[in-house]
Amino acid sequence: MSENSFYLTTPIYYVNDAPHIGHAYTTVAGDVLTRWHRQRGESVWFLTGTDEHGQKVLNTAEKNNVAPQEWCDRLVEGAWKPVWKALNIANDDFIRTTEPRHMERVQRFLSGLKDQGHIYSGKYEGPYCIGCEEFKLPGDLLDGGLCPIHSKPCDILSEENWFFRLSAFVPALLEHYKNNPSACEPTSARNEVLAFLEGDVQDLSISRSTFDWGIPVPWDTEQVIYVWFDALLNYATAVGLGDEPGSAGAEKFAKTWPADVHLVGKDILRFHAVIWPAMLMAAGLPLPKKVFAHGWLLVGGEKMSKSKLTGIAPADITDHFGVDAFRYYFLRAIPFGSDGSFSWEDMGARYTSELANDFGNLASRLIAMIEKYCGGAIPALARDAGLEAALAETVTKADAAMVALDFQGGINAIMEFCKRVNGYVTEREPWIVAKDESRTPELLEILYNTADAIRALAVLLYPVMPTTCETLWNSLGMDSEISSQKISEVATWGQIKPGTRVTKGAVLFPRLEEPAAK
Ligand code: MSP
Repeated sequence: MSENSFYLTTPIYYVNDAPHIGHAYTTVAGDVLTRWHRQRGESVWFLTGTDEHGQKVLNTAEKNNVAPQEWCDRLVEGAWKPVWKALNIANDDFIRTTEPRHMERVQRFLSGLKDQGHIYSGKYEGPYCIGCEEFKLPGDLLDGGLCPIHSKPCDILSEENWFFRLSAFVPALLEHYKNNPSACEPTSARNEVLAFLEGDVQDLSISRSTFDWGIPVPWDTEQVIYVWFDALLNYATAVGLGDEPGSAGAEKFAKTWPADVHLVGKDILRFHAVIWPAMLMAAGLPLPKKVFAHGWLLVGGEKMSKSKLTGIAPADITDHFGVDAFRYYFLRAIPFGSDGSFSWEDMGARYTSELANDFGNLASRLIAMIEKYCGGAIPALARDAGLEAALAETVTKADAAMVALDFQGGINAIMEFCKRVNGYVTEREPWIVAKDESRTPELLEILYNTADAIRALAVLLYPVMPTTCETLWNSLGMDSEISSQKISEVATWGQIKPGTRVTKGAVLFPRLEEPAAK
């Protein structure tokens, strides 16, 4: 894998229902981060997809009187892909676990592990939560045997299954996380994983025999592969895992693997930070560089979820605030890694103060002044040492924060610069300067500096709010593509060319209608 490449994955989502804003939170974070890395000039691969096998999806399909494959096709095409498109998600690939490219590679991988002696047959007896699709340990459950995530009783299974020797990898996993603190973040997540590994880790049942909606175990077709074992492999099957040397798949795998970041919600941390790396170790493959566990969007203090009827569809919010404000709000308001509550009022307040006032108005005032005082053309190049230095510092800060998945810190740094530019305009009072003809050079200087600062803001905010920033970029008359602007070059002052014609575009953040009672 080359130095200049960046491979990021989201979890693949269960297709038992349509996406809610919790799912969108993860995918938008992945999209913002990969767009940022693209703007750094890296060769990016961004994967998302759907997790279609297992009992949970099967039960939902049955409840709806539809064959499971048809159910999955319906939801993927009718709900998941359209929502990602509406949210402007620029994924490079979308993997479905029912695709032959995935199923064949999973079977090959499992046979490989069996040949190496990592798989044996045994009996599983214990609780299983279908909502989590997880074999639970008695200590994981609430009183009455309830799953702590779904607050529902677990099934009690008793099955002859195939087992993976997970426990054999515990010492190597402990060493891995002790030697590579950045392999699991934030620190709270890493501590949770270390504590789990220091406990009594059991081998893992990796097949099910009581239903058939899954990938058949290649040597025992009475059993299907456990849905998590199937699903985790998507990150590698999508980029050519185990393909013939010399094939396109093998080439893609060599270029892409290991993943730089697996983005996950904290509910699925153990699968990603314990089971997945153990599977890779067993196969002799390199481990992902980082698993990052973000927090939950909460409703009434609990994880938002469709099964608890608290799921909010992204469109409920984007219809009112627009897609870019949606993309901005959650990453700006909640430290990535912590839980956060969605509040209609807080989102409205930030929309108005940060987006409409600080950013949108700054841009529209500048364009109006250039039209009024300069006939719509950018004046001669000018400089302001203070603004230039502040921009350079902003880019350094924002870049460091974004690559560390501190979205809030990165966006804050950029919005602080936006405030600084507003301060510059307020302080220099171009509308007063304009009244005195002898001060025209000063007026032009203020307008140039403001315009170039806004050019930089458009590029820095582009990964977060692509449509708005592109609109702004075009109304500044820039002749290059905003997507080809490099983060490393944003701070170079003077990129907006004198003489360029600006145009008044649509209002970037229109005044909000009174919110409907929600
Ligand atoms: N299919 C598994 C993942 C397999 S990955 C190999 C799964 N799917 S899921 O659809 O239930 O959830 C996927 C992810 O959605 C969660 O891990 C999390 O990233 C995100 N979220 C679901 N609900 C959420 C919130 N309420 N808040 C934040 N993120 C949430 O688990």
